[in-house]
Amino acid sequence: MSMKITKAIFPVAGLGTRFLPATKANPKEMMPVVDKPLIQYAVEDALAAGITELIFVTSSSKRAIEDHFDSNFELESNLLERGKQDLLDIVQGILPAGVSCAYIRQKSPQGLGHAVLCAKQLISNEPFAVLLADDLIDGGKQSCLQQMLDVFQQTQTSVVAVEKITKEDTKKYGVIDVESTEHHITSIRGIVEKPEPANAPSNLGVVGRYILTPAIFDLLENTAQGSGGEIQLTDAIAKLLKKETVMALQFKGKRYDCGSKLGYLEATIAYALKHPEVAADFRLLLREFAECTA
Ligand code: UTP
Repeated sequence: MSMKITKAIFPVAGLGTRFLPATKANPKEMMPVVDKPLIQYAVEDALAAGITELIFVTSSSKRAIEDHFDSNFELESNLLERGKQDLLDIVQGILPAGVSCAYIRQKSPQGLGHAVLCAKQLISNEPFAVLLADDLIDGGKQSCLQQMLDVFQQTQTSVVAVEKITKEDTKKYGVIDVESTEHHITSIRGIVEKPEPANAPSNLGVVGRYILTPAIFDLLENTAQGSGGEIQLTDAIAKLLKKETVMALQFKGKRYDCGSKLGYLEATIAYALKHPEVAADFRLLLREFAECTA
């Protein structure tokens, strides 16, 4: 019987050190791209794929995320009194009716694998999605997660999103071993976290969207610290694919690595250039800049 995926985990408990000092008191996941925080884009990706239960793995410095997805009585009544219905709609429309949020703490940042494990008790014996907000993905007509769910519907297996990366970037990603990198949907033979370019099994790097079967939890419980002294999700997936098929999808769309300064700036430019309110003026601004610096 085919399973429907309704739950998604959003690990948001990392320290965001690459954006210090901005992330000293504010969550990296709340940094805006034009006018929406990164976490909201990831949530929208999940909602577009039919996810209805959102599970955030947070830490003490991430309360702003909880507040963002809660109602704000003072703000809403102020907007109502001033007749700002358009802004009220934006604020009240962040989450549609029927979507629930749960928050669980990761006491210390012990890695992505550990963060996912923290949500175990909120996931029954069912497959689920994991979305990392710092990977902002513009899937065009179909969200990246929806594309992955289409693969899941056919295979009923775990699915990871991958994209082609440069050789020098293998040190930043989980890299998969596949028979051919030319197939857009393929089963994974192996996976390794942050390999040196010379040891990388391919040029396909895993990005921040996963569909996982619940078998991952037992494997995470028995996964020792790996790269960077953290419990790596990649290491547990390496064990999972010895027991079950794990698929890789080279998704359609453009990913912005908003965990890095340059990727974040690129995303800001790309999203500003298609934002109905500012696109035209921003295009002019960019042209002026290009002329000044030419
Ligand atoms: P990253 O490694 O990209 O984020 O984790 P980071 O550690 O916060 O950032 P830097 O490298 O110090 O700048 C990817 C996602 O996983 C979450 C992060 O919050 C981010 O959304 N994460 C990471 C956790 O929830 N817990 C962890 O222990 C590690």
